[in-house]
Amino acid sequence: MDTQIDTLITTSRLSLRPVTMDDVGPVYLQALNDPEVVGLTEARHVRWDRQAVLDYVAQSNREGVSQLLGIFLKDSDQHIGNVRLFNFSSVHRRLELSIIIFDKSQWSKGYGAEVLQGVSRYVFEVLQFTRICADYYAPNAASARMFEKVGFQIEGVFKQHFLLDSQYVDSVRVAKINPAIAPRPSAVGGMVVQHPMGGRDVAPIGAEFPVPRALPVGLHGSTEPPPSCRADGGGRPAPIPSNGPSITEREVALVTEAVRDGWYAKMSRYLEAFERRFAEHTGMRYCLATSSGTGALHLAMLGLRLGPGDEVIVPDITWVASAAAICYVGATPVFVDVDRTTWCLSAEAFERAITRRTKAVVVVDLLGNFPDMDAVRTIARQRGIHIIEDAAQAIGAEYRDRKAGSFGEVGIFSFTGTKLMVTGEGGMLVTNEKTLYQRAKGLAHHGLLMRGARSKMFWAYELGYKYKMTNLQAALGIAQLERIDELIERRRQLFRWYQARLRDLDGVQLNREGAGVRSTFWIPTAIVSRRYGLTKEAIVRKLAQRNIAARPLYYPLSAMPPFAPYCRGKRMARINPVTYAIAPYGICLPSAFVLTEADVDYVCTQLRDILTGRGRR
Ligand SMILES: Cc1ncc(COP(=O)(O)O)c(C=O)c1O
Repeated sequence: MDTQIDTLITTSRLSLRPVTMDDVGPVYLQALNDPEVVGLTEARHVRWDRQAVLDYVAQSNREGVSQLLGIFLKDSDQHIGNVRLFNFSSVHRRLELSIIIFDKSQWSKGYGAEVLQGVSRYVFEVLQFTRICADYYAPNAASARMFEKVGFQIEGVFKQHFLLDSQYVDSVRVAKINPAIAPRPSAVGGMVVQHPMGGRDVAPIGAEFPVPRALPVGLHGSTEPPPSCRADGGGRPAPIPSNGPSITEREVALVTEAVRDGWYAKMSRYLEAFERRFAEHTGMRYCLATSSGTGALHLAMLGLRLGPGDEVIVPDITWVASAAAICYVGATPVFVDVDRTTWCLSAEAFERAITRRTKAVVVVDLLGNFPDMDAVRTIARQRGIHIIEDAAQAIGAEYRDRKAGSFGEVGIFSFTGTKLMVTGEGGMLVTNEKTLYQRAKGLAHHGLLMRGARSKMFWAYELGYKYKMTNLQAALGIAQLERIDELIERRRQLFRWYQARLRDLDGVQLNREGAGVRSTFWIPTAIVSRRYGLTKEAIVRKLAQRNIAARPLYYPLSAMPPFAPYCRGKRMARINPVTYAIAPYGICLPSAFVLTEADVDYVCTQLRDILTGRGRR
C-alpha cells in the first residue's frame, strides 16, 4: 500500500499528521459503519499533503464529515496523542480543536504551545480559515496559560455538565483570530463594530461553497460569529438582533443525514426518536410532534373535546395563539389578569373568573416563567377544570424540580425560530392520557387511525387537520434537545448580564422567578415605569435608532379586534388592571444566542441613556 504521509506540522520535537487506514483498528471501522455516528474522520490510504488536505476539506463539506483526526507523534514515531480538528468547514472557515494526550509521562513542558502554534499557522496560512477556538476546563490554570501564551483570547465561560474528578466544572471558550485577515473597526452609534471578514478577501477553499461575509444565524461554538463579525451583505454593521437560535455543526450534520437518509424505511426515524427523547426530557408518557405550537394547542382543545358553549380561561397577556386556539374550536375565551411579579396568570383572578361553563384554563409559562402553579392546580382540581399548559416559551423551565409542560392534562411547546430551541417551525403536544394522545394523533393526520384494530388505510374516522412535523425538522429538534441544558444556561447567563447592569436603574423591573421556579428567561424583559413618560413603542423606536432590535411586550389580548366579540360591554382595563398597567411599558430586550456581554453592555448603556440621559430628548 502506498501511504506516503506528509505531516501537517513539524516542530523540533513533534509532528502532527492526519490519521490513515494504517493507524486505525476494527473499532474505528465498526464506528464508520454505524449510522448513529456522524462526522467521523475518514481515514485514508492516500497521500496526505497540502493539496490532499485542501481536497479533504472540500470533500468533507460535501459529505458532511466534520472532523479531521490528527495523530500526534513524538520524535516522529511515538504516538502520544491526538488532535481533533472539528467543524472542518470551508463554509464557515472557523475551526475548533481539542487535544487528547494518551500518555502524560511522555508529555513535556511547552508541547501544548508548540502544537497550538503549529496548528494555528497551518490553519491560518494554508487553509486560510478565519478563526480557531477551543475549550478548556475552568480550573485548569496550565491550559489558561498555554492558550494565552499563543494568542488565544477568552470569549466566555459556560456552565456545562463536564464531569471532572466527580465535580461539574465550567468550561472556558478561547479563540484566536487569523491576524492576516485584519480587523477594520468602525464606530456606529457609539458602538465599535469590527469586520474581520470585511478585510482582505480570501479565496474560498471549495469554490462551489460561497463564503458568507457574516453568518446570518446565531451559532454556538466555533461556528458562532463573534459580535465583531456581524455585518450585513454590504459590510455595514447589522443591528443587535432581537433573537435567533444557536446552531452548531451537530445540527447541520443530523439534518444533512436526515435529508440524505430519512426516507423509505427511515421516514419516521427522526420523528419517533425526537418524540421519545422529548418524553424523557419532560417526564411525560406521550409526545406528539406537530407542525407548530399553535397546531399543538388546537389539538389539545380538540383532545379535551372543548367546543361551543364552553368557557376557557386564559391570561390577558400572552402570545395571540394561546387564545386563538380556543376560538378555533368555537369555545369562549375569558381573559383574566396576570400577577404583578411573575406576569403569568394570577391565581386569584383565575378563581374569580370561574363560572358554571368554565371547562378549562390555558396556563401560560410566559417568557420561561411560571404562575403560582400550586395554587392554580389546587383551584383547577377543586373546581373540575382541565389545565392546558402552554409551555411554548418555557422548554426546560422547572417548577419545584418538575419540567414545564407536565402540570396539566396536556401541555404544548413551540419550536418556532425565535424560541430557545428551534426546528424552524414546529411544536409538541405532551400528555399522560392515552385517549387524549390517540385522538390528537389521529386529528393531526386528517382523522385517520394508523394503528390498532380499527385502522383501515386512508379511512378518515373524523374530519382532521394536517399538523404533522417532518422527519427533517425532527432531526434538527434532536440535535437541539441534546444541547438543551447548555442553551438554558446560556440564556440564564444572558439574563444575569442584563440584571447586573440594570439592577440599580430605578423604575425598571426585569423578569422575576417565583418561589421554587427555575426560569429559562426566554426573553429578558423590562417593564419601565410610566414615570419616565415613554411608552414601549417609543423606547423600541429609540433603541432601533441606536442599532438595537428590541421588541414590545404583548398587547392585552382583550384590547385586540379578533377578541372584541368576547369582551363586549366589559371594561377590561378595570377587570384586568395589572395587564393594562404593564403592557404599555414592557420591552423585550435582545436575546439572540449570538449576543455577547459587550452587546448587552451596549444595550443597557443605551437604554439607560434613553430613560435618564440625553437620549430622552
Ligand atoms: C405562549 C405561546 N403560545 C403558543 C405559541 C404558538 O407556537 P407556534 O408559533 O409554534 O405556532 C407561541 C409561539 O410563538 C407562544 O409564544
